[in-house]
Amino acid sequence: MDFIDLKTQYRRLKPSIDARLARVLEHGQFIMGPEVAELEAVLAKYAGTRYCIAASSGTDTLLIAMMALGIGAGDEVITSPFTFIATGEMIALLGAKPVFVDIDARTYNIDPARIEAAITPRTRAIMPVSLYGQCADFDGINRVAEAHGLPVIEDAAQSFGATYRGRRSCALSLIGSTSFFPSKPLGAYGDGGALFTDDKELAKLMAEIRVHGQDRRYHHPRLGINGRLDAMQAAILLAKMEVFDDEVAARGRLGARYSELLARGCAGSGRHLRTPWVADDCTSVFAQYTIEVEDRPAVEASLKQAGIPTAVHYPVPLHLQPVFAAGGRGAGSFPVSEAAAARVISLPMHPYLTDQQQQTVVAAVCAALQS
Ligand SMILES: Cc1ncc(COP(=O)(O)O)c(C=O)c1O
Repeated sequence: MDFIDLKTQYRRLKPSIDARLARVLEHGQFIMGPEVAELEAVLAKYAGTRYCIAASSGTDTLLIAMMALGIGAGDEVITSPFTFIATGEMIALLGAKPVFVDIDARTYNIDPARIEAAITPRTRAIMPVSLYGQCADFDGINRVAEAHGLPVIEDAAQSFGATYRGRRSCALSLIGSTSFFPSKPLGAYGDGGALFTDDKELAKLMAEIRVHGQDRRYHHPRLGINGRLDAMQAAILLAKMEVFDDEVAARGRLGARYSELLARGCAGSGRHLRTPWVADDCTSVFAQYTIEVEDRPAVEASLKQAGIPTAVHYPVPLHLQPVFAAGGRGAGSFPVSEAAAARVISLPMHPYLTDQQQQTVVAAVCAALQS
């Protein structure tokens, strides 16, 4: 069994992907070819924003967004400690300080009620993460941000396709940033990412920063990076968007089914098991289907033995990573994140998971909890 099965999806989309790639090979505009603008239009319409800027990865999009907001040395950016390294890393790479705020235990996303206490005169932005495919609580976050005049960047690397109170991830704050890493809900066959905004000036700035800060050929009013998405990846993503609605629906269905089967199958196990909680007015794309268990090493070993691939997202919260040790926030600083990091384990999840495969995974999890 694959943790994420990309081959079945390729077989479904082969005619479209192959034809689109062949067209790129024919026209030869590998950098900023016509597929890039075509994809940007499709993605902006899907997310519900005026502008989309396709870029080289979900890491570079965070960097570009913060560069566009002028974030640099001495500044502080508020974010979650329970995320992939890139979120904190890009803040620090710009010379700014990631200021961590603990998460809501139910969603694993930054707790809006704790943000205000972390704001200082140096705070320049709030960068919530929409972890595992469910959006952070943007009404709460935007309220605090507006009260303090702060911009909000959604790190939506895992949540493209999710909805929050009827609106789509990436359209919930000033800037949305997503990733097209192959295993993401919308994945390329290499690195990729995209930025979303309704702000015309910011969109122009981010598009320029993506290409070395260039406003016209070989004229550079500001610093930028080589942050372009290539035309091959854009072609692949255009093909994948043909079935994305269908895949998002499958993810929602499979996530709910996992939770039902686990609740039923493991009811008598006696050991702690927590399935994902999705807010009533939100949908998750289940970039990861992540449960919490009591004795994770034993469960991991038992699932490995049963041939079930698992992963831990993420075993060490960012404030405890050696690279952020200088931040001075040691063990115990963010107890909700630390407790989650000790217990979470992700199960195989992708839109082509069969009922039989799900039953096999659930039986193995329940057996592991009983042993
Ligand atoms: C929350 C989060 N932020 C940022 C990134 C970085 O995205 P990429 O791998 O496309 O650079 C990821 C990717 O794993 C992620 O999960």
